[in-house]
Order: sequence, then structure tokens, then C-alpha cells
Amino acid sequence: MAAVFILLRMNPRTVHPVNPLSLANQSRLLLRVIGSATLVLLLQVCGAAGAQRQFRPGAVWTDGGGAAINAHGGGMLFHDGTYYWYGENKEGRTWLPRVNRKWEGYRVDITGIRCYSSGDLYTWNDRGLVLTAVPDDAAHDLHTTKVAERPKVAFNAQTRKFVMWLHIDTPDYRAARAGVAVADAPTGPFNYLGSVRPEGADSRDQTLFVDDDGKAYRIYSSEGNQTTYISLLTDDYLQHTGKYVKVFAGRRMEAQVVFKCGGRYWFIASGCTGWDPNPARSAVADSIWGPWKELGNPCVGPKHRKTFLAQSTFVFPVAGEPDALIFMADRWNKTNLPDSRYVWLPVRFKGNRLRLEWSDAWDLSVFDGGTGDSGPVATK
Ligand code: DGJ
Repeated sequence: MAAVFILLRMNPRTVHPVNPLSLANQSRLLLRVIGSATLVLLLQVCGAAGAQRQFRPGAVWTDGGGAAINAHGGGMLFHDGTYYWYGENKEGRTWLPRVNRKWEGYRVDITGIRCYSSGDLYTWNDRGLVLTAVPDDAAHDLHTTKVAERPKVAFNAQTRKFVMWLHIDTPDYRAARAGVAVADAPTGPFNYLGSVRPEGADSRDQTLFVDDDGKAYRIYSSEGNQTTYISLLTDDYLQHTGKYVKVFAGRRMEAQVVFKCGGRYWFIASGCTGWDPNPARSAVADSIWGPWKELGNPCVGPKHRKTFLAQSTFVFPVAGEPDALIFMADRWNKTNLPDSRYVWLPVRFKGNRLRLEWSDAWDLSVFDGGTGDSGPVATK
């Protein structure tokens, strides 16, 4: 608009010296000015729209109101034609509690879990805090002094409720519990039901996976982050059934991600280095219960040994695009956690392996023609 304004202001001055008395000349020039102004306006509108129709991993990503998106360690739910992105609202001062000094366990106090909605995945509307901190009860799991991380939401088709699971902890990460909350609408408010130590064990980083048959699983770090557990949830998704397996024993993983593609189960995770990045892991299985076969670091491109300076958090399918999957990760800024960024990349397959290739900027057209090197996805 500024350019249009300048053109309109400047051109009358250039019109006069040509032939101040000729009305025909003036009209022609005026038409030219209007033509250029329209062109500039069109270019600006297209440019602005174009800028929003790309994913730029690691760049500041703003919502429709111009604020930086605040949804860390998050997950995605697609429901009734809309994407809902849930994540930790990291707001306020980043500080290092004395108990966490050795391992640089920086934190921001709990404010809540934020949700954004989108129809196109590029532009996001802030739907506010859908689960809020409880500042006036020091014993509550959601008291500001506690830890609430890695929220994931699933829709339960039987109860028609939205169920959120998240990692709940004390500031020193010793409580290691799994919290659950429920809502009638994707944008909440979520009603916090409490937390458990599932299967009698500790539970830290976690994710949710809902299979094609509607059964839901919680996948989490346990036994002091040594081992990953996969637990079947009850039909209402609100409890653990007691049916579970221990996988990747002794492999020390965090930031687990599970998704299904080509009839197989795929897994991505990080190692355990606090907020600092490390090489991602990947694995594949024909059943959620395993056996899981590790496939190594799926990252390709600059900083691939550090997962592009990020840590996995979720993979979700693009609606209406068969086998198109997007990998979501967090580029943590440990001394200024609210300034942590997002790294989204397309999931690709090469042979029987998973591939996450770096790209400075990309859009959904990368999925045109499939996601694999010989057909849409890897085959068995
Ligand atoms: C790594 C985990 O993946 C994060 O969710 C968070 O708990 C940090 N550790 C804390 O250092």
C-alpha cells in the first residue's frame, strides 16, 4: 500500500511539465499511473500471500494476529476439516532452578497449553490456552512451579470427547507422571483429571498414537529414560489398560513419535541431552507391539547429526493427500525458551528407510508425485 501511495503522490508532479494544458495527455498519464498502481498492489498482495504459503523451518512463525506461534513440544489433530496444533505455552522468564544446574534444566513456569487452528497448515489462528495453569494450589499438577510438557490430543469417536495426555513433573523432573485432561470441543476448555505412573513406572517424554481401528496407545520414556514403553489405553482413552511392551531397552530415548504409513508402524525419537540437540533415531515395525527394527538417523542435510538443531515432537498426515506426512520438531532455545522455533519437514521414504531432508523453505506441492523413491511409500 505504501508503494501505491508514493506512486499516486509523485506522478501528478511528473505530469505537469510534459504538457500542462493537454487534457488528453493528462488522462493518458493518469491511466498509466492507475495501471502501475494496480500492478504494484497486485504484486504486493500476491507477494504477501506467497510468503504465507511456505514452511520455513527455524524461522519465526507468526499467527494471524502477528504474534509468534507458542505451541512447543506439540502435536496435531485433524478434526472436521480443521487442523488443531496443541503445544506448551512458553511465556515469561527462562530460569535455571538450582536443582537442575548440573544438567542445565532451564524452565519457564507453567502457564498452560495453547491451541491454534488452521484450514491450510500455513496460516494459524490462536485459539487461546485450552488447559490453564493452577496458580493458587501448590500441590496441583498444573501449579506454575511444576512441569507440563509434550501435550498430545486425540479424538475419541465413541465418547466424542477430546483427550489430552501430557508429561507432568516436579521442577526437578523426579515425579515423572502422565497427566490426562478431557474436553467436549477441540478448542477446550480441557478439564484436568489427574496424573498416573502407568504400569507402576515413571513416565516422562510421551506421545499418543491412534491406530486405524480406533485403539490408542501412549508411547513414553520410562525406567529413568532408559527404555521406551508402549501402553494400550482403554477404549475411552482415559486410562492405561495394563497391556504394554518395553522397547528399545537401554537405548535412552526421548521425544518419541509414532505414525503409520504403507501398513507399517514408524518411529522417530531423540537421545537424552536435555534441551540440546542430538542425532535422531528411527525404527519400523509390522505391529505396534514390535519387534521394532532400528533404522538409524533419518536426517539428511546440514546439521543432520543434530537433527537440524531440533528435537522430534510429532508426525501427522496431510488431509486428502495419500501418504503425505509432515514431521514436526522443536528447535529449543534453552536460555530463552519462548524463542524456541519450529522445524517442519516432509517425511520421505527411500528404499525401506525413512528420510527427513532439510529444506530452507517448502510447500505442500513437494508431495505431488508421492513421497517415496519408487512409488508413494516404502514397501515391505
Ligand atoms: C528433553 C525433553 O524432550 C523436553 O521435552 C524437555 O523435558 C527437556 N528435555 C528438558 O530439559
